[in-house]
Amino acid sequence: MSFDIKKIREDFPILKRKVNGAPLVYLDNAATSQKPQQVIDCIVDYYSNYNANIHRGVHTLSQEATDAYEKARKTLQQHFNAAQVHEVLFTSGTTEGINLVASGFSEILKPEDEIIVSALEHHSNIVPWQMLCEKTGAKLKVIPMCEDGSLQMDVYDTLLNDKTKLVFVNHISNALGIINPIETIIEKAHQVGAAVLIDGAQACSHIKADVQALDVDFYVTSAHKMCGPTGVGMLYMKEDWGKKLPPYQGGGEMIATVTFEKTTYAEMPHKFEAGTPNICGGIAFGAAVDYLNEIGFDAIKKQEAALLDYATAQLLQIEGLKIYGTASEKTSVISFNVGEIHPYDIGTILDKLGIAVRTGHHCAQPIMDFYCIPGTVRASFAFYNSIEEVDALVHAVKKATMMLS
Ligand SMILES: Cc1ncc(COP(=O)(O)O)c(C=O)c1O
Repeated sequence: MSFDIKKIREDFPILKRKVNGAPLVYLDNAATSQKPQQVIDCIVDYYSNYNANIHRGVHTLSQEATDAYEKARKTLQQHFNAAQVHEVLFTSGTTEGINLVASGFSEILKPEDEIIVSALEHHSNIVPWQMLCEKTGAKLKVIPMCEDGSLQMDVYDTLLNDKTKLVFVNHISNALGIINPIETIIEKAHQVGAAVLIDGAQACSHIKADVQALDVDFYVTSAHKMCGPTGVGMLYMKEDWGKKLPPYQGGGEMIATVTFEKTTYAEMPHKFEAGTPNICGGIAFGAAVDYLNEIGFDAIKKQEAALLDYATAQLLQIEGLKIYGTASEKTSVISFNVGEIHPYDIGTILDKLGIAVRTGHHCAQPIMDFYCIPGTVRASFAFYNSIEEVDALVHAVKKATMMLS
């Protein structure tokens, strides 16, 4: 399908609104994406026509809801190329997926074990592992970063050894947009017998991840970054781990039998999905993935690369503007500061001009500490952004800089 930006923008009703009297320019896509009408319609259809609890009803509505929910799981299986549909677990998002795996490893890790994280992580791929280390006595090691935002892969080699049990790295950094060499990271971790979790929260709206080709053990993401709703996500878990890891939470749905003497657990995915899930969210997640595939990931990549190249060139013409994260493998995120101006002040003026960007540490304080800055202004572009919106951003940053200098 040819890429018709005007037509694509019409799919997103929110892009028609004004903010502070100006047309909305939404450049906070790394925080959450906007939702196309197709996904909104799917949510309305569910609550209007077949809202019911799933898996345990004989009545028609329950069967319809169950079928739609399980069809969405199948959509995710196909999209991420999981070998088995039961390797796809619904979660409330990336954060829960990571906590689920960390909770499972609390039963596995011993005090002499080591786990490896990268310096580029979101707090949700740091804190659960620190909590795990506190519980088990295992040691947390960090792959350091370079000035351009890439990882020091030679140091990674020296951190790996036969004590390494788990490596967890994001596919794409949320603060800088850098794409990590996850294929190499996974291969090297497997050579020492360590499992790998990839945090795909920032990747899945830009890249179609193939979990079998990656040979990854765990891959997590959130629907809301992919044109889907908040409160739902996916944890891909290789079948072997589904057998080894204990359940995350106890409750309905995750059991085979319950007596007061003993409970036996269901097989995956239900073993890890206690309680009534976000049914509508799961179904709408499937609709969002269908929508993205209809646009096509090649087209998405091309449009976002054009936006990134153009915005980078234009922003760099502003005196004193510095971009953080300049490695060549990067996606459509630009993190920057202008001179000594506080990012929050720039963000506030941009908002007055209708432009939504994020300011602050982006839940990645170690990256900000590395650069010795309190935070950045982050403009993150999606395929539905236009070149005219980049112009509006550049114009507004110039204006804010003049006002604040
Ligand atoms: C790289 C990365 N990991 C994890 C998360 C957490 O995602 P969620 O809040 O949807 O659980 C985010 C959210 O911004 C992220 O960017």
